[in-house]
Amino acid sequence: MKVKTLEELAKQGALNGKRVFIRADMNVPRDAEGNVTNDFRLRESVPAVKIALDGGAAVMVCSHLGRPKEGELTGEDSLRKVAETFGKLLGHEIRFEEKWLDGVDIKPGEVVVLENCRGNVGEKKNDPELAKKMAKLCDVYVNDAFGTAHRAQATTEGLAHAAKVACAGPLLAKEIEALTASLSEAKHPLCAIVGGSKVSTKLTILKNLAPKVETLIVGGGIANTFLLAVGKKIGKSVAEPDLIDECKKVMDIMREKGGNLPLPVDVVVAHHIGYDAGFRICDIDDIDGDEMILDIGPKTSLILDGYIRAAKTIIWNGPVGVFELDNFKEGTRAIANAVAEATGNGAFSIVGGGDTIAAAKVFGVDDKVSYISTGGGAFLEFMEGKVLPAIAALEARYEK
Ligand code: 3PG
Repeated sequence: MKVKTLEELAKQGALNGKRVFIRADMNVPRDAEGNVTNDFRLRESVPAVKIALDGGAAVMVCSHLGRPKEGELTGEDSLRKVAETFGKLLGHEIRFEEKWLDGVDIKPGEVVVLENCRGNVGEKKNDPELAKKMAKLCDVYVNDAFGTAHRAQATTEGLAHAAKVACAGPLLAKEIEALTASLSEAKHPLCAIVGGSKVSTKLTILKNLAPKVETLIVGGGIANTFLLAVGKKIGKSVAEPDLIDECKKVMDIMREKGGNLPLPVDVVVAHHIGYDAGFRICDIDDIDGDEMILDIGPKTSLILDGYIRAAKTIIWNGPVGVFELDNFKEGTRAIANAVAEATGNGAFSIVGGGDTIAAAKVFGVDDKVSYISTGGGAFLEFMEGKVLPAIAALEARYEK
């Protein structure tokens, strides 16, 4: 993937005195009072603004927040509080601009955060007229919003075509590099861990990854449907029996190429999900009809540990148990530790998806993996093999 970058422009002195419009992804979780509860994306958005400021630019920062109705922003949809938190992280004075489409008064060295771009009519439909209007605000357009790269919207796709100059910010460039290193240019053996509750939401990922990886570890409810596919009895565990044939196809791909798709040999079961649930560890062939699988067992953890440690590249998306509850978190902890140790021994590891990032944090490995993606849906769509429209638009603008 070839895209022009903000860093290159800064090195060429091409930002000096210019109006730079950065599309960031500041769509962050907030509490009932609107305070930011996780500032990961904001921290990751700081470098682009710093590069532009250091390069002598006047900097406008734009983002969406939530999914408001266009033309009808309410107080809850406002980016104002998020912008304040961002200003503190940036360590630079910022001005917040509610109405900005018709022009922004800004000088080099200043930073203006623009109100939620999804308030503008035509944003979601990628209206070319809206993109043209926004293009007039700036000399350089920077897309640094990997989290929104799977959306073809006016600030993510249209503007990349309409702006005089379009480039990728450091966050987007870093994501492209890490995702490429994990998939198309991966060092092998490549091991993908795909967990979560439903095969249906990850089927495209499983099908895209199976031909590319040496080991495909399935976990959580996804593994339950695979267990059904090999004829195991799984009690009242969450599963999708109508997708058994699809699971068989994925298993066939792995078998035909001599790859590994290890299924649990032991599991942690209980009668219900809860802190108070009594649980037991049992062999995979020993599950009672009224029990449900809520985690992998220690023997399985050990087997998976071996596969993960043997890999040179690891993609991790999705927990293998209900890790939020103490009774069912050991399997996911074992995976997290194995990924961290393999990384320490030289493997490249990438972690993506909200639950998985949360698990990496809970088990203290978030700073021991090679890369944590800021993308939720964007990360998944990349793993599904889809072209992300915002990246494709920047590639189309690439000139040597
Ligand atoms: C995300 O949080 O995944 C991104 O900010 C994209 O948000 P969206 O799903 O509302 O487009």
